[in-house]
Amino acid sequence: IRVAVIFGGRSVEHEISILSAQQVMLALDPSKYEIVPLYIAKSGLMYSDRSLCELNTFKDMEKLDHDLDPVQLIRNGSQYEIRFIRRTWKHKAIPVDLAFPVIHGTNGEDGTLQGYLELLGIPYCGCRVLGAAIGQDKTIMKQILDRQNIPTPPWFYVTAYELLDDNILKKCNELGYPLILKPACLGSSVGIQIVKEEKNMLSALRQVFQYDEKAVVEKLIEPMREVNCSVLGDLSRAESSEIEEVMKSSEILSYQDKYEGESKSKGMASAARKMPADLPKDMYEEVKRLALKTFHALHASGVCRIDFLIDDVNDQVYVNEINTIPGSLSFYLWEAIGIGFRELLDKIIQLAFD
Ligand code: DAL
Ligand code: MG
Repeated sequence: IRVAVIFGGRSVEHEISILSAQQVMLALDPSKYEIVPLYIAKSGLMYSDRSLCELNTFKDMEKLDHDLDPVQLIRNGSQYEIRFIRRTWKHKAIPVDLAFPVIHGTNGEDGTLQGYLELLGIPYCGCRVLGAAIGQDKTIMKQILDRQNIPTPPWFYVTAYELLDDNILKKCNELGYPLILKPACLGSSVGIQIVKEEKNMLSALRQVFQYDEKAVVEKLIEPMREVNCSVLGDLSRAESSEIEEVMKSSEILSYQDKYEGESKSKGMASAARKMPADLPKDMYEEVKRLALKTFHALHASGVCRIDFLIDDVNDQVYVNEINTIPGSLSFYLWEAIGIGFRELLDKIIQLAFD
């Protein structure tokens, strides 16, 4: 099977996607799959070249745009192929059988890429358009969780238009400070702020609107621990992984904790973690149950990671969010229960063909 691993992308998580994709390309079983890297540069142009299977190639990203020839993924009759836009004798089209999106965030994890793949008709891994879109927009995700009685921190959302309305501050007061502000559609903690007092709220909201048209205002859970659980499946089946606890250096898990901590040297897009998470047995079971319920409620498929917040004082578990293309595809959560990365990838690919 010729697998186009699609990564990079026009997203603030571009670099993380490069790391995740390298891990995937290394772990795919070479006796079963032929890897075709398909890299979307920050410029939005796509490239496919052997050199893109190596991390070193990305040391100078501007040079890439200059040196490589852009490609596109197209359908040709009943076949799919990567075709060089400026075709010359040395550029033969590369046939592919399956697309494997390993892009985090906007223009990749949010349904846009999935829509393109759907339109082509090529089999692809992970969420369909709907699941990907729901997972990326916290305002839609949280409305569904509320409707399904899946606990999520109390919240509301604000658009830039509503910022002119006096009621915003009243609503914030009703929720109660400290509050946490998030751009509705970004990942990896980019643009997240904690607001402790009313007087800082409006300027904080304005900052969020530099990233996004919608801001999620959420009650800050304190003291709070974060645990994650991965789920693999689709609408008709699902299994859950081990649960990890993510260790953070400040009030919220920052971009630095996630990607620039001790594990960076191992080339792993993740913070320091405790595995399994230190939870009482009934809470451990509750997290697993909610992970599966959330996965289905949000129409997810493939491998996802569901992030939880734990309020130990009140014994409460909250679903924080879903990542429909998690960093490193959360392989380490599966390894912990005896499913190796290679086997996990086989399962994800199998789901794409079912
Ligand atoms: N959005 C990143 C990659 C994650 O949370 O895994
Ligand atoms: Mg995330």
